[in-house]
Amino acid sequence: MSTTATPAGASGHPRPVTVHDIQRAKEQGEKLVMLTAYDYLSAQILDEAGIPLILVGDSLGMVVLGYDSTVPVTVDEMLHHTRAVVRGAPNTFVVGDMPFGSYQEGPQQALATATRFLKEAGANAVKLEGGGRMIEVVAYLTAAGVPVMGHLGLTPQSVNTLGGYRVQGQSEAAADKLVADAVAIEEAGAFSIVLEAIPSEVGRRVTEAVGIPTIGIGAGPATDGQVLVWHDMLGLTTGRLPRFVKPYADLRGEIASAVKTFQHEVADGEYPSGEHTYG
Ligand code: KIV
Repeated sequence: MSTTATPAGASGHPRPVTVHDIQRAKEQGEKLVMLTAYDYLSAQILDEAGIPLILVGDSLGMVVLGYDSTVPVTVDEMLHHTRAVVRGAPNTFVVGDMPFGSYQEGPQQALATATRFLKEAGANAVKLEGGGRMIEVVAYLTAAGVPVMGHLGLTPQSVNTLGGYRVQGQSEAAADKLVADAVAIEEAGAFSIVLEAIPSEVGRRVTEAVGIPTIGIGAGPATDGQVLVWHDMLGLTTGRLPRFVKPYADLRGEIASAVKTFQHEVADGEYPSGEHTYG
């Protein structure tokens, strides 16, 4: 699973990733890899690289749309980007993030939103944040045939009640609640759970307590998979980054340098040369 988004079907031909492939990865001890994507081009790159899971995260509100949190993101914005990602990644399992306010009213509102993600955007599944009363929502969606990814720990849509982006599950009681919520989310029928910004030991406890794959972001090495935000892992984001972010490239620097070179070449009359001009 960590190396291919197109597992071979019975005929030996590649086929799109399914929930069964994701579950099998946990059973076989293979690490799952997920990255966020928000547009056609990045989705194509991930699909071609064989990344099995793409999350169209509501983080797009911050990294693409310039909001100061994920709270303002609308369903229409999410659907617009999810459609582009689905077009670019025909073999990858695409999860659409349901934004704040689009499922918290209860199961029926959640099903109406999830239906739009599956029918209008072509997502394979939806993600929603929280345990507690969200368990009922997960059960309702899965019973209706919607694959659901849970999200526990730091749940950015609740930044206003959490009082900031802080590590969660640090006390014994909070860690126990996280494990209990994860078990309840599995029992409600979710196929996977994202664990964000929790101590490694809590990530390990949750992962051992559930039979479905956990995908960590700042949850330590014991989770069944890892996810990072596209802009963070490529070194496109500025400012103070969370401890768990590892930039694998410096694309912001590369892009700035290319833009400056273009600027100088135009100013100096070096571009366009004969090679880039019609005769
Ligand atoms: O919105 C998002 O990108 C997410 C990931 C950080 C898991 O929820």
